[in-house]
Amino acid sequence: MRRLIWRIFWFAMAAVFVPGLFAVLSVGRIPVPAVVLIGGLLLGSGLYGAIYWGLIPHLRTLDELTQFLQKIPGQRFTQRLYHDPLSEAAPFIRALNQLLDQIEIQMNIGEEYRQRLISLLENMASGVMLLDPRGRILLVNAMAERLLGSSRKELIGRQHIAASHHYELGQLIDRCLQSGQRFKQELTVYYPQERVLDVHLSPIARPGGGKGGVVVVMHDITEIRRLERLRSEFVANVSHELRTPLTAVKGFAETLLDGAMHEPETLQAFLEIILHESDRLHRMIGELLDLSKIESGQVRLDFRRIHLKEHLEAVLRLVHVEAEERQLTLQLHVEDDPVIEADPDRFRQILLNLLSNAVTYTPPGGKIELFAESRPDGAWVRVRDTGIGIPKEDLPHLFERFYRVDKARSRESGGTGLGLAIVKHLVEAHHGRIEVESELGSGSQFSVFFPARQPDMPE
Ligand SMILES: Nc1ncnc2c1ncn2[C@@H]1O[C@H](COP(=O)(O)OP(=O)(O)OP(=O)(O)O)[C@@H](O)[C@H]1O
Ligand SMILES: [Mg+2]
Repeated sequence: MRRLIWRIFWFAMAAVFVPGLFAVLSVGRIPVPAVVLIGGLLLGSGLYGAIYWGLIPHLRTLDELTQFLQKIPGQRFTQRLYHDPLSEAAPFIRALNQLLDQIEIQMNIGEEYRQRLISLLENMASGVMLLDPRGRILLVNAMAERLLGSSRKELIGRQHIAASHHYELGQLIDRCLQSGQRFKQELTVYYPQERVLDVHLSPIARPGGGKGGVVVVMHDITEIRRLERLRSEFVANVSHELRTPLTAVKGFAETLLDGAMHEPETLQAFLEIILHESDRLHRMIGELLDLSKIESGQVRLDFRRIHLKEHLEAVLRLVHVEAEERQLTLQLHVEDDPVIEADPDRFRQILLNLLSNAVTYTPPGGKIELFAESRPDGAWVRVRDTGIGIPKEDLPHLFERFYRVDKARSRESGGTGLGLAIVKHLVEAHHGRIEVESELGSGSQFSVFFPARQPDMPE
């Protein structure tokens, strides 16, 4: 607009100047020689030309430059100013464009670092929170949101005490802000769920000195603590379980040495007890080793295509004698002779464990049935008994190591409480699943699903 006004103004000036001069001179009756007239005309056009081609382009360039510079912040330094290479302003505009190139490169590098930092923070397995020297939350990553149970919106810009639900964490932050010391502490939080956090707090120094705030890094160690607790419970359980038969062996051996060995009947009875207890000890150690090998993936399963009927009959033969002694009826029901891919020895081990439980925990006169049912993707094998049954509250713990419903009775029967833990691991190694239904006093049914195909078996 300014440019247009200028142009009109100078045109008007030039248009008025020469005829005006001529008119003034004519009115004053001053003879105007042709040379003067032509000279005046040339001067007028020269003046116009000088102003139009000399001054206006500069003004125009300045005008464009101002408009361009005003627009830069919104365009993130990506625009450049185009110019006439022959104009006087060309070197200046070139220098300006080069400066803009540099700024754009620096801005891109800065943006790239920012993006890297954001993705690093967001994908970290630890929670990170940054606070200013007054305890205001400046930054939280995704994991911190999850651990603290609050969203960024609720946290950022607010005092940590007001924003978070964790009083103890707030106290640690205040301690770090006041002392300027770096430290770590384990903390149990109860919101949004119970968790054990390993919290590291470090003061941040400002480049010029002085307090810059605090950075809080939180690791979720709930699972580690749970496993540690399980391990120590397991060690305590193993020691207890091993000590029971050992105490019996030691006690009876001492009694024999104290003189009981001279009575043949007592000697025979005590030696039988010692043999029974050491058998149990031997079996328990064997099963523990087996379980630990299966759990740690050291046992390689030898998968083959097997016909269930043949293998189920073989397992039934193994428990036949014991079942007869206990006056139990054994029945096998096989539908369509299912074929599955399984390790034959481990398959028998699973079924033998379930059948021996059924035999052990079914009173004389009871019935034990073994079913095999074909499914499009595998087969169900069920062991059903009319035994003592299992209380509902014990069902979720049945597959834990050393878990026994009635400890005294199970120990009496020589049980170690490891059988079902082994069964569960073996079934999982076959990519199958195990379910149990039971009615106290009426009987139990253990059902195992075996998939038809194993993922690592060649065609
Ligand atoms: N068919 C069943 N009927 C009733 N209770 C059962 C049955 N099967 C298992 N149980 C209960 O589950 C517990 C755990 O069984 P598991 O087979 O793991 O151990 P166990 O039989 O005591 O010892 P072992 O390791 O020698 O098999 C048993 O002690 C018993 O209380
Ligand atoms: Mg058992």
